[in-house]
Amino acid sequence: MPLNTDKSSSVTDALMTRITVRAFLDKPVPKETLTRMFDTARRTPSGGNLQPWRAHVMTGETLKKFTEEAAQSTLGGKQEGETFPAYPSPLWEPQRSWRYKLGEDMYALLDIPRDNKMGRLLWLANNARFFEAPVGIIITGHKDLLMPQHLDVGIYLQSLMLLAREEGLHTAPQGWWRRHPETVRKYLSVPDDEHVLVGMSLGYGNPEAKVNDLWADRAELDELVHFYD
Ligand SMILES: Cc1cc2nc3c(=O)[nH]c(=O)nc-3n(C[C@H](O)[C@H](O)[C@H](O)COP(=O)(O)O)c2cc1C
Repeated sequence: MPLNTDKSSSVTDALMTRITVRAFLDKPVPKETLTRMFDTARRTPSGGNLQPWRAHVMTGETLKKFTEEAAQSTLGGKQEGETFPAYPSPLWEPQRSWRYKLGEDMYALLDIPRDNKMGRLLWLANNARFFEAPVGIIITGHKDLLMPQHLDVGIYLQSLMLLAREEGLHTAPQGWWRRHPETVRKYLSVPDDEHVLVGMSLGYGNPEAKVNDLWADRAELDELVHFYD
């Protein structure tokens, strides 16, 4: 299915046309659009109204310098001390297979086979460039946040992703940025008691890019939803 770049006018449409976009157009997002999105996202609910997120929104020169450094750090194999591991280890079924299939489907689209380790590393480094998006977002929060507050941050992220579709924009949520706490601290104002929770690329999705044809599978309704009468 080709990437839908129209502006969504319903929540259903925003959800159905949102995918993780990993290639963006070289087209800036107006400041008013960004302000409107983040202003509306303030309505995100959170347990106890803690609003445990803090968003750092980068564009222009800051974004350029930040991504150059993060990409170099990735390609140089520098370990910056990840905030949290991305997944439980070992991961169980069926989640393990779902994760594996996502990766294989993506590399098949990109035509980078498993034995092309350098090709896969170079592709991974695109994460560190916010996939060339004109806006890079880092979300930080207090180091002592508990699981319920991490749920709140997830809801905030979804607010931003759906609001982006209303503006004709696309996003890539990125746990990736938990690997780059040093780069984040160098460029952004993050107090010592906070750390990186997640990041997000934001911009106009490139409908010509093959990688944006990736429609990740979903479990069937009755696999994960149980109705009780
Ligand atoms: C919290 C979160 C973190 C993610 N981190 C990354 C990431 O670091 N890099 C990436 O390419 N995709 C990342 N993704 C995208 C997921 O792979 C994607 O959401 C999932 O495969 C479903 O595909 P879809 O978003 O295209 O529907 C992340 C998604 C979420 C929700």
